[in-house]
Amino acid sequence: MVTKLKALILSGGKGTRLRPLTFTTAKQLIPVANKPILGYVIDQTSQAGITDTGIIIAPETGEYVKDYVKDGSAWGINVTYMPQEPLGLAHAVKTARNFLEDEPFVMCLGDNLLGEGITGLVDKFNMEKLDALILLKEVENPGAFGVAVLDEKGNVIKLIEKPKEPPSNLALVGVYIFSSRIHEAIDRIKPSWRNELEITDAIQELINMGCNVKSEILNSWWLDTGKKDDILTANSIVLDEYIKNEIHGSVDNKSKVTGRVKIDRDSVVINSIIRGPAAIGRNAHIENSFIGPYTSIGDNTKIVDSSIEHCVILDNAQVRGIERLEDSLIGKDVKVLKNNSHKALKLMIGDYSEIEV
Ligand code: G1P
Repeated sequence: MVTKLKALILSGGKGTRLRPLTFTTAKQLIPVANKPILGYVIDQTSQAGITDTGIIIAPETGEYVKDYVKDGSAWGINVTYMPQEPLGLAHAVKTARNFLEDEPFVMCLGDNLLGEGITGLVDKFNMEKLDALILLKEVENPGAFGVAVLDEKGNVIKLIEKPKEPPSNLALVGVYIFSSRIHEAIDRIKPSWRNELEITDAIQELINMGCNVKSEILNSWWLDTGKKDDILTANSIVLDEYIKNEIHGSVDNKSKVTGRVKIDRDSVVINSIIRGPAAIGRNAHIENSFIGPYTSIGDNTKIVDSSIEHCVILDNAQVRGIERLEDSLIGKDVKVLKNNSHKALKLMIGDYSEIEV
């Protein structure tokens, strides 16, 4: 019989590297190609047939996550929310102990995007009756992650969290499948130097306990979307892979739309050029502007007399009279306007904002 897995999706944390955006949303809800990152993560667990899903939330941003996922019916899943202070991934598993019962489960990070689904992983875990299956990827900066050492047969023999001298370049991607033995392992570990209960240490403990721990190497891309440039890269990759030509809004005959561009309903494009891959949300107004490749523009936005490329612009933002806006992440309700009277910059910006002039 195939075991039925639960899913545990981690959507907590403070998102400090994405301030000021994370003052009014969770980092997992920042959209790429106009859809929150967390939405792609839930797509993957639900496509693997998992319905019973627990979501770990932070006290500060949990309400935003609940507002987006609601009862999970949009994905055909049941959701249980569990608040947690950021004390480590293994601590999150501890927090979810009652929800998980003694069932096996997939754990995913709500701000990590993978270029392929997890169905193959789930099948391997079930067929080989494992206690842990971890996903690995070769990276150039292994010291920034949990790192695994494999023997010549591919068995996991050692794991270290953020090693100063990495023994391999295989990083732990934030996708794990565990049997209930992980709880025993978590009970045996102590907090790390950063005062977190590390899941990497718990998996090492499973190995010490003689449990069956295996790995798979991810063949596609993996993005940990913790910073602005990661969001822009994720946006570019997702637009490249998923956007099809779908024009639901209106484009006047002075405008030109080339490449793969998605324009949602009630949006208008007037005397503008849009070059895909690009996504434009609902009720956007684009006039006398150029929207270049790898750009996502949210709902109810106004882009007038401007040129934009390789940007993510969130809902209700306005960009007017800006000659060239590139590589930028613009938050909700932001206004970026040209000041015609002076050469001076005039700013009213939130705490932790970054401006390059
Ligand atoms: C966490 C894990 C680390 C893993 C990484 C993947 O790191 O501790 O082992 O490689 O996620 O994104 P953190 O984001 O807590 O620094």
